[in-house]
Amino acid sequence: MQPSPAASAPPSPAPYRFCVAPMMDLTDRHARYFLRLLSRHARLYTEMVTTGALLHGDRARFLRFDAAEHPLAIQLGGSDPAALAACAAFAEAEGYDEVNLNVGCPSDRVQSGRFGACLMAEPALVAEGVAAMIAAVRIPVTVKTRIGIDRDDSTERLYTLVDAVAAAGCRTLVVHARNAWLDGLSPKDNREIPPLRYPVVGQLKRDRPQLSIVINGGLQTIFDCRAALDTLALDGVMLGRAAYYSPWLLSEVDAALFDDASRTVDRREVVEAMIDYACARMAEGTPLAAITRHMLALYQSVPGARAWRRLLSERAPKVGTAQAQGIEVMRAALACVDPDRAAA
Ligand SMILES: Cc1cc2nc3c(=O)[nH]c(=O)nc-3n(C[C@H](O)[C@H](O)[C@H](O)COP(=O)(O)O)c2cc1C
Repeated sequence: MQPSPAASAPPSPAPYRFCVAPMMDLTDRHARYFLRLLSRHARLYTEMVTTGALLHGDRARFLRFDAAEHPLAIQLGGSDPAALAACAAFAEAEGYDEVNLNVGCPSDRVQSGRFGACLMAEPALVAEGVAAMIAAVRIPVTVKTRIGIDRDDSTERLYTLVDAVAAAGCRTLVVHARNAWLDGLSPKDNREIPPLRYPVVGQLKRDRPQLSIVINGGLQTIFDCRAALDTLALDGVMLGRAAYYSPWLLSEVDAALFDDASRTVDRREVVEAMIDYACARMAEGTPLAAITRHMLALYQSVPGARAWRRLLSERAPKVGTAQAQGIEVMRAALACVDPDRAAA
């Protein structure tokens, strides 16, 4: 069956059960369209967009998405309550399903702008921002945070933040189960070196059962997701790198986690749908490679995967926005992995 992103899933009773994390430079609209072809129910998050970018930059470009991407959350970076409220209202008007506030990003650039993980030290300000957004929109306002900052392994900061935003009306938190070390680790190291402490997130759910708690950090497989959902009794899982670098994993999500086996996903049909999508975007001036770069891992572990990747990475950048050549390159890549059916 041709995957039909337009036929979006009905609202889920468990909207946060499986989420794909916000990732700068990775979860742009093209990646999200592609991931949506693999799962109807996964909740997708944009890259972080700063309030400054939305207020003073090319807002339409930052907010743009395809209707097929729902359920879709925008992640905001910022701390000024009035700016957050204005940006949440822009996002709601554009049709996003959720506004998520970044209280977890550890980069220096983000700290100097007084947002991201350093906001864990300013729970009152975060709560003010959350309250301002909630007053401005009807869609859910959620928070993504770490379990602590620096080498402080107590959970006091986490509970103070959680209680402050809950009092402001936030009902759902995504918790990346490691501290952010703000004193010198690169953002990349900060996603690997501070130890993962899943039990902290399980305990948070037991202590605050009225909140929806989504766990994030280091989850690799559907088995890991099940373990987190069942053993820790959490409301959802959020996968970042595993979802992006092993996207085929998403093809199991609907049946395994949402009890929806109504659609079987076929890689070739996904590629066919992406050819149509790429043609439409190229016609608007998007170069092919901006789209195909997100598809490189689709055929991971399948014979021909290396040729697929190489062909797309070498030839797609030369195509620019030439549609006929773009189709030819994508079909040639398909022939590397699916030689019998590529020409069909
Ligand atoms: C390239 C990259 C960019 C990221 N950008 C963001 C971001 O914009 N906002 C955010 O909250 N987290 C960001 N993260 C962190 C992820 O959302 C997630 O919390 C982290 O990768 C841990 O989850 P994982 O182990 O499943 O990847 C980023 C991670 C990566 C790898």
